[in-house]
Amino acid sequence: MAARLRGTLNLAADKSIAHRALLFSAMGSGTAEVEIREPGADVLSMAAAMEQLGAATRLEERDGALRFRITGGATATHAALPGDAPATLDCGNSGTMMRLLMGAATTRAGATTLIGDESLSARPMERVAGPLRASGAELSTTEGHAPVTISPTAIAACQHNLPVSSAQIVGALTLAALPASGTTTITTPGPTRDHTERMLAWLGVDIRREGNTTTLTGPANWQNKDIAVPADPSGAAFWLVAGAIHPDAEIVMPNVGLNPTRIGVIRILERMGAKVESVATGSRGPEPAGDLVIHSGQRLNAIHLEADDVADVIDELPILAIAMAAAEGTSTVRGAHELRVKESDRIDLMVRGLAQLGYDVVEHEDGWDITGRPVDLGAADPHAPTIRTEGDHRIAMAFAIANLSGVGACEVDDPDCAAVSYPSFFEHLASLT
Ligand code: S3P
Repeated sequence: MAARLRGTLNLAADKSIAHRALLFSAMGSGTAEVEIREPGADVLSMAAAMEQLGAATRLEERDGALRFRITGGATATHAALPGDAPATLDCGNSGTMMRLLMGAATTRAGATTLIGDESLSARPMERVAGPLRASGAELSTTEGHAPVTISPTAIAACQHNLPVSSAQIVGALTLAALPASGTTTITTPGPTRDHTERMLAWLGVDIRREGNTTTLTGPANWQNKDIAVPADPSGAAFWLVAGAIHPDAEIVMPNVGLNPTRIGVIRILERMGAKVESVATGSRGPEPAGDLVIHSGQRLNAIHLEADDVADVIDELPILAIAMAAAEGTSTVRGAHELRVKESDRIDLMVRGLAQLGYDVVEHEDGWDITGRPVDLGAADPHAPTIRTEGDHRIAMAFAIANLSGVGACEVDDPDCAAVSYPSFFEHLASLT
């Protein structure tokens, strides 16, 4: 609990964009530099894998950002990951890395095995492997999970109708289809973030996402270009909620990625009554970026989120649950089944944690109901509960914000797991108080 929150935070780079910048550069032609501010453990896993394949070299840090020089493995005709020797790549905790690589690795000349930590090894991989096999890929999962082994295969251009709206699966299928001649279409039941399509189009590939369909015409090849990855809007979301619910806050965040498929959290906080200032500044790369400022305002109102709202805030729902706990009335979330198969079962952990803080909260298979109460910045509670995170970075950061901004005094059992996406989260938290 802090009486006042003030400061300017230079956030860690967006991991969705950083993963793609590293991986796509390793598949293109020629050499370019990728600049990533304070990469978290997930992005460092991708960087290490690209170093292992001989594509990336780590350069010195400049202005707080790590730089990588990357030379792609493209053939004369199409994009490809380099290396003809078998390789085992460790994806750590990162579902995005494993799923994108399941598609990208089909373009290597050698076999690739993907492994991950305990949490990642429990996450579903057949949702990617199945559609990849349908287009001709040869790959095997371990009873639907990692380790996954991918053989080099030529994929045919084809039409996919996916049962799940997942940018990771769309990305995997797109990368596998890059060498294929002809048109590949990938349709999802709902919206997904479009970083793959934006970055490939910016590199010159004939690709677009219109509505819920991605259309790619291959074979695709490109000349690599330098990219500076903007700050993570999912990291910004923690401070947007802290500032919106704390009675005395002003927090500035420069150069945050403002891709419309990622800033649903701003739209939802505004619907709840928060005032977020956003000034577009542009960026070195395919993505829009700008500066964000949040000031405290009136108490937030409750909100009802349905499946259509959920896609743009799938990673922000844990921290939005904290905003709901501070809002006036009962907020509801439905259509968020996917939260059960993220780094943890996020519905279960958010509902349990808020119940430990004394909130009236109801669990649903696909969401929750949370009845809010006013924040209380009173004295520290010596009996504050310890919240279970199961090593999930977003759960740890969400409850750290609950403690900071008077939603409920608590500790988290594994604060270090924040480093998966946001290594300096707790330093930033301390700097605001
Ligand atoms: C991501 C897509 C989302 C998101 C994840 C990153 C990406 O997953 O939850 O943190 O970079 O493509 P799904 O696409 O599976 O919903």
